[in-house]
Amino acid sequence: MFNTMTVTKAAGALIGALLFLMLANWAASGLYHVGAAGHGGEGEEHAQAYTIPVEDAAGGEEAVEETIDFAALMASADVAAGEKDFGKCKACHKLDGTDGVGPHLNGVVGRAVASVGGFSYSPAMVEHAAEAPEWTHEALQEFLANPKGVVPGTKMSFAGLKDPQDRADIIAYLESQQ
Ligand code: HEC
Repeated sequence: MFNTMTVTKAAGALIGALLFLMLANWAASGLYHVGAAGHGGEGEEHAQAYTIPVEDAAGGEEAVEETIDFAALMASADVAAGEKDFGKCKACHKLDGTDGVGPHLNGVVGRAVASVGGFSYSPAMVEHAAEAPEWTHEALQEFLANPKGVVPGTKMSFAGLKDPQDRADIIAYLESQQ
């Protein structure tokens, strides 16, 4: 028993000493870097401060490229093309006021989310309605780009429309179907 205790204590002391050495080493190298920055290190810091905004600017440009001017796309949307593209939705959505696999889409632009009485929406879509209550142009364009990404758990089995102009065309067509 005593032996085990002694060994444990000795090991503890050894580990403690090692830890102390490591910490001392780390503190010393930290001090060294601070010292180095004092001598001519400022120049380096200025160089860095210059680099970072340049990277930011590049990131900003990318972000701008990714932002779609959906209002402009809506303004030039083609209802006839939208009617054709709506062929991709017809297997599940009707425009005669009756429901199929999906709810009817009459007047869906500006309609409340998950609001067709008698249609059994997924819990995910009902929850989504609490966050985003109305199918605005923007809400539709985001949802149609990636239904399962925007409403995880939705029972709309549709991969999404990659082309923003196709989405705008369909939305313009749906807007014409009240
Ligand atoms: C494979 C069947 C299927 C296809 C294809 C499909 N949908 Fe759906 N859609 C559904 C289902 C099912 C729901 C109900 C989703 C839920 O409750 O989670 C739905 C929900 C919706 C909603 C929400 C309606 C509401 O009342 O809140 C919109 C808008 C919609 N779909 C538009 C479209 C459009 C536009 C297309 C074609 C680009 C399309 N869908 C293609 C099955 C489909």
